[in-house]
Amino acid sequence: MDWDAVQSYLERLVPERTGELARMEAEGRRSGFPIIGPAAGQFCYVIARILGARFVFEMGSGYGYSTAWFARAVSENGGGVVHHVVWDEELSRQARAHLDALGFGNLVRFTVGEAIDALENSDGNFDLIFNDIDKEAYPRSLEVIGRKLRPGGVLIVDNLLWDGAVLDDSDRTASTRAIREMTRRVFSDPAWEASIVPIRDGLLLATKVSPPPSKPADNRL
Ligand SMILES: C[S@@+](CC[C@H](N)C(=O)[O-])C[C@H]1O[C@@H](n2cnc3c(N)ncnc32)[C@H](O)[C@@H]1O
Repeated sequence: MDWDAVQSYLERLVPERTGELARMEAEGRRSGFPIIGPAAGQFCYVIARILGARFVFEMGSGYGYSTAWFARAVSENGGGVVHHVVWDEELSRQARAHLDALGFGNLVRFTVGEAIDALENSDGNFDLIFNDIDKEAYPRSLEVIGRKLRPGGVLIVDNLLWDGAVLDDSDRTASTRAIREMTRRVFSDPAWEASIVPIRDGLLLATKVSPPPSKPADNRL
């Protein structure tokens, strides 16, 4: 099977984007900035809708493209908050302008700073956390994410296939090793139920297992 043809097919199935979102995609093509693209965007939107997500935390945001898909879902779920966090002030400013133009500015909270620290300093209990930070920090981010996601909440992480590098045993670069390490931890930890969806560069989809209901002390009751 032709991998690129499959990816273009998945992309063509996404309903047409118009206006500001279409302009944001054009900006990605022009600048080469690594946005998640329409197929992954639509996937994030559908998951957030199924979950009824109202509180979303995005780690390592860009100029607001993936944020826009989450904001649309949260808006349709009845409103809430989407956190946009990036350490680049100019990207944060651009994202604010795009999300205002899309009419979602009022439900996005913008933070300029390091994303793991920002998550650590948040109140937590998020329905959904999306992680797209520098790959070397993926393993370190997992412990904080586990504490800040509500039981039954969903974690989506981008770049789990890393352009195929994770399959190549001779690739020992720091970013590839970090992605492998995060993948290993999530799949081996009973606190998570996980799968990888091979859209674009591979999305981890995981849910934090809810603790089992406590049994009554006396089971004759
Ligand atoms: C891949 S881009 C995000 C693209 C975005 N998900 C989208 O589709 O629109 C990652 C961004 O997060 C920033 N970043 C990476 N690691 C970060 C971290 N630890 N804290 C804050 N920002 C980070 C990068 O500089 C870059 O601007």
